[in-house]
Amino acid sequence: MAKPEPEVGKALLENWQRPLLLIGCGNMAGAMLSRWLDTGLNPSLVRVVRPSGKAVAAGVAVQATLEMPVAAGTLVLLGHKPQQLATVSAALAPLLQGADILSILAGVPVAQLREALPTAGTIIRCMPNLPVQIGAGVCLLHSEDGKDSLGGEISRLHRALGLVEWLSEEPLFDAATALSGCGPAFVYRMIDAMAQAGGALGLPGEQAQRLALATVEGAARSAMLSDTAPALMADAVASAGGMTRAGLDRLDQADGLGVLMQETLAAAQARAQALAALAKGG
Ligand SMILES: NC(=O)c1ccc[n+]([C@@H]2O[C@H](COP(=O)([O-])OP(=O)(O)OC[C@H]3O[C@@H](n4cnc5c(N)ncnc54)[C@H](OP(=O)(O)O)[C@@H]3O)[C@@H](O)[C@H]2O)c1
Repeated sequence: MAKPEPEVGKALLENWQRPLLLIGCGNMAGAMLSRWLDTGLNPSLVRVVRPSGKAVAAGVAVQATLEMPVAAGTLVLLGHKPQQLATVSAALAPLLQGADILSILAGVPVAQLREALPTAGTIIRCMPNLPVQIGAGVCLLHSEDGKDSLGGEISRLHRALGLVEWLSEEPLFDAATALSGCGPAFVYRMIDAMAQAGGALGLPGEQAQRLALATVEGAARSAMLSDTAPALMADAVASAGGMTRAGLDRLDQADGLGVLMQETLAAAQARAQALAALAKGG
């Protein structure tokens, strides 16, 4: 029995009232903001600081440097690179008046953020992934006290972006980041590998890519709507002696894909420590 498709809230943020200050607005923070504006966020609540001073979206104020004090009710999104934390925090810390911080800096633990921004209110770590821009992302969240201590509003803000998962144990954050934060890139590679393999069997390249993309989208959506685990679904569609079973038998040889995926996630997770060192200026 299929589960109902989740409702995508187009107007989720229409009643959002808290000012947002984005420090850095490149690929990822820009994707988050674009989706928030699409789901009703009032652009006049948003201020962006980025060295280039480049415009972001209609109605959103942009400045090249941080000058004014940041009011206590503001939610500050750190959307720059980990290696820019020392520069940003030197400018931001004296201006913070207890404002809450939402950081998307990969690998940088909450304690390190607290050390850099001792005058902040609540500090929350977030790890989004790129599909947030179409509301189909995953956002991992962790706060200093391990929960959504700001009255549910952080969850609401992130529900506009897709699936929201709070992690109470920060040591698991980098593991989860390796899976869902980096995961889209791994899946894009798999889609490409499927398309290339179709091409090697004689299919025109563009057609093979269309087939691979639609197959992955359909497989993911049907797995999400099913009560059956994906591992069992794979076997359920592979009847004995059929084509799918012949392919799966090759894919499963020596657990090749399983081992490769474990090594892929472990390599991504291991990089987190290096990023934390970069954020310290190391
Ligand atoms: N890309 C991903 O898939 C992904 C996924 C999850 C998390 N993240 C995290 O998101 C963060 C940003 O990554 P990104 O890929 O979006 O990088 P990006 O596209 O290079 O954006 C970096 C942003 O930081 C701004 N910036 C640079 N120096 C600054 C400073 N001193 N003060 C304020 N802003 C400054 C840049 O300003 P200009 O626009 O003016 O150049 C730009 O807007 C990183 O911490 C990363 O770990 C990324």
